[in-house]
Amino acid sequence: MIELQTSCAMPDRPRPILGIGAGGIVRDAHLPAYKIAGFEHVGLYDPDIGKAKTLADQFDVPSVFGSMEEALEGAPDDVVFDVAVPGGVVRKIIPQLPDGAAVLIQKPLGLNLEDARHLCAVCRDKQLIAAVNFQLRYAPPIIALRSLVDRGLLGDLHDIQMQVTLWTPWELWDFLKTEKRVEILYHSIHYLDMIRFFAGDPHGVFARVNRAPGQPDLADVKSSIILDYGDLLRVTVSANHCHEGGLANQESYVRLEGSEGVAKVTLGLCMDYPRGRPDVFEYCLFGDGTPSWETLDIEGTWMPHAFIGTMASVMAKAEDPSRPLPTSVDDALRTMAVVEAAYLSSASGSTPIDYGD
Ligand SMILES: NC(=O)c1ccc[n+]([C@@H]2O[C@H](COP(=O)([O-])OP(=O)(O)OC[C@H]3O[C@@H](n4cnc5c(N)ncnc54)[C@H](O)[C@@H]3O)[C@@H](O)[C@H]2O)c1
Repeated sequence: MIELQTSCAMPDRPRPILGIGAGGIVRDAHLPAYKIAGFEHVGLYDPDIGKAKTLADQFDVPSVFGSMEEALEGAPDDVVFDVAVPGGVVRKIIPQLPDGAAVLIQKPLGLNLEDARHLCAVCRDKQLIAAVNFQLRYAPPIIALRSLVDRGLLGDLHDIQMQVTLWTPWELWDFLKTEKRVEILYHSIHYLDMIRFFAGDPHGVFARVNRAPGQPDLADVKSSIILDYGDLLRVTVSANHCHEGGLANQESYVRLEGSEGVAKVTLGLCMDYPRGRPDVFEYCLFGDGTPSWETLDIEGTWMPHAFIGTMASVMAKAEDPSRPLPTSVDDALRTMAVVEAAYLSSASGSTPIDYGD
């Protein structure tokens, strides 16, 4: 059995965190992750003050602010702002942050590529240390997968497949009902970002999004995406969030196949979201004999543990500017560009078939 890295780099001295937005993801992932990491959370602001108060009580957060202005006044100098609001609100929040501040922004970086470009420019003008919360890269099984790849154990990658067939309770996010883009912008964006983490930037995208007949209030809730990396690497993301067959035959896995081996990581989180099911990390190194599969026990999962990594990366960068910030807003802009291209591809339609009729 091989040993793989599963943990992320941590700052030498964690900074205090101030949360802007106190919704479901802050309750289910941000605050639990920061508790595990021992990060100090100094306060929460949400226009729904009741929500902020409930979370503050539950997680021993000392301050709840009545307005954004109060939150900014109450923020310690070395704070990291933790923005977790709907994509359409990010554009309103970032310009209000003090120049030079450190901030972690929940994905998506705005509603589209134009928003993302604007937000990057604002971050640059204000000299913010700013990253997007693409935390899937920091999920312990994905760190392990990356370490398998970096050690060359899979050889040259020729196939990456992200497969999702499950039921997603979209009703948890009220704000989605008015969004023009749902599945790729709010969900598969994580997979696109993770694939960039493994394979770099694709040259192009073919995509088709679909709505669900039983969910008339929502825009796209399914997608089929092919990322073009040229002749020698096939990459697909296929996401069906409308599977009504219960938990038995769900799928949620990423499979990386190379010249020397293959690894399959089942990500349990979205199967029965937000409770999740166990992850499974399996790999098979070809060697000289008959291929045989091993299963590795990995401690920690996407939610909440991955959320430690993105926050730690911002703290570490704020401490020492020479350190990397893997999900910086400038890097996230490239993931947003892939998302935009996927929607454009879907809108531009498929190649007509000449049946000769
Ligand atoms: N794995 C992940 O990374 C993950 C998972 C779920 C959600 N998210 C992202 O997190 C964001 C929030 O999702 P959620 O699940 O918490 O949704 P939610 O609807 O439960 O909460 C959103 C919160 O934002 C608050 N809000 C709205 N405007 C605000 C403002 N101007 N200032 C401060 N707060 C404001 C709302 O009052 C609400 O409490 C979304 O953009 C979503 O994409 C990420």
